[in-house]
Amino acid sequence: MYNKAIAIIGTGYVGLVQGICMADFGLKVINVDTDEEKISSLKNGHIPIYEPGLKEKFDRVLRKNSIEFTTDIVYAIDNAEVIFTAVGTPPNKDWTADLENVYAVARNIGTYMDDYKLVVTKSTVPVGTGKRLKSIIQEELNKRNVNHPFDVASNPEFLREGKAVQDFMVPDRVVIGSESQKAIEILKNIYRPLNLNQVPFVITGIESAELIKYASNAFLATKIAFINEVANLCEKIGADVHEVAKGMGMDGRIGSKFLHPGPGYGGSCFPKDTRALVATAREVNERISIVEAVIESNENQKIRMVNKMEDKMGTIRGKIIGVLGLTFKAETDDVRDAPSLVIVPELIKRGAIIKTYDPEGIPNFRRQMREFERNITYCYDQYETAKNADAVVILTEWNEFRQMDIRAMKKVMNDSFVFDFRNIFNPKSVRELGFTYEGVGR
Ligand code: UDX
Repeated sequence: MYNKAIAIIGTGYVGLVQGICMADFGLKVINVDTDEEKISSLKNGHIPIYEPGLKEKFDRVLRKNSIEFTTDIVYAIDNAEVIFTAVGTPPNKDWTADLENVYAVARNIGTYMDDYKLVVTKSTVPVGTGKRLKSIIQEELNKRNVNHPFDVASNPEFLREGKAVQDFMVPDRVVIGSESQKAIEILKNIYRPLNLNQVPFVITGIESAELIKYASNAFLATKIAFINEVANLCEKIGADVHEVAKGMGMDGRIGSKFLHPGPGYGGSCFPKDTRALVATAREVNERISIVEAVIESNENQKIRMVNKMEDKMGTIRGKIIGVLGLTFKAETDDVRDAPSLVIVPELIKRGAIIKTYDPEGIPNFRRQMREFERNITYCYDQYETAKNADAVVILTEWNEFRQMDIRAMKKVMNDSFVFDFRNIFNPKSVRELGFTYEGVGR
């Protein structure tokens, strides 16, 4: 078991999940952030993100004192041998990743380190960043006229929101990219508790590890865009996309996951990572034209949903539309790049009056939709949303929508359109209740 303290810089989504789960392994963790308010609220036992299973672990590691929260990066550098960077890499205007936060961590390490350090990138960073960090740290050491040894490694995360704890504890693989055998051994040692779950390690060069993350996310986004377009085709030729996906997915080479059609993918990763991959390729005079097409296809998919509603309803102007679900998927309060952020404004532009409900996502959505404030009524549940509505549209597959009493909904609606863009209902049974039902691809 690795018995020194490890530092994790950044208490965003990735840094927190990693810090808490590693502390729960029994490792000694120092979680660092520049945001003082956040650190003091973490110290007081408040966790700023909603993630199933995380709070229990958090309370446990706080009680056991195996995690420390601090704004003092120098303290973390002094006390830890391994330093994970999990700071934000927001997109620039041209969709390349802004690496200033990651570089700042490297500069700090070079400035303050006094003995061997292993610097591990956890943030999603473009290919070549590991090498760049190495030279930044070396420059700082040179300025100080010292020559402490250090290594750099890439250890990308593949956490899904809503399943982050499970993904951390039972990942499909742990990718470790480094040129240094010592670094690889240390990281394997840190992740040893996962061995009990027989998690495979993939040991690669640093550039390969960096690319694995982007290529994986772009590939998954491609699967979704692909099935969305197949779904659109199904609608025209009378096929059922679920039957098609099932038949395709049984081919082990294709696999059944990520073949669920919908209103387009969103979230903090796929939209950003696909664009960053395209930008990285262009920087070296290559094109990943498939991924370029995926990005375009995904944008079209969102607008296609609005077109479909307009088609079926004749007009949207003046209609009351109840939107159920705003987050980019269920079990999260995250609306980053959610289809709702395109679909709702588009409906409003075409004259709709919006009522909406989401179990977790309203505050985040509302913040981004200020300019449409007077066209949107926020409701406290699905039935209030359906009241007097001409149509109800489902944009997120929350379980409470699956279980809702649509008979009761029908009684309060003004007209009977149901647009189920997550395919959560059985079309036949909804139609039998007298609704005009439209799903995606069936
Ligand atoms: C994703 C990756 O899965 C994860 O490995 C990576 O580290 C971060 O990005 P996340 O963004 O949390 O995770 O969500 P995910 O469950 O992958 O879904 C992404 C989007 O694709 C959602 O909008 C979801 O609704 C959509 N999706 C997913 C589909 O439309 N159809 C599918 O079949 C699967």
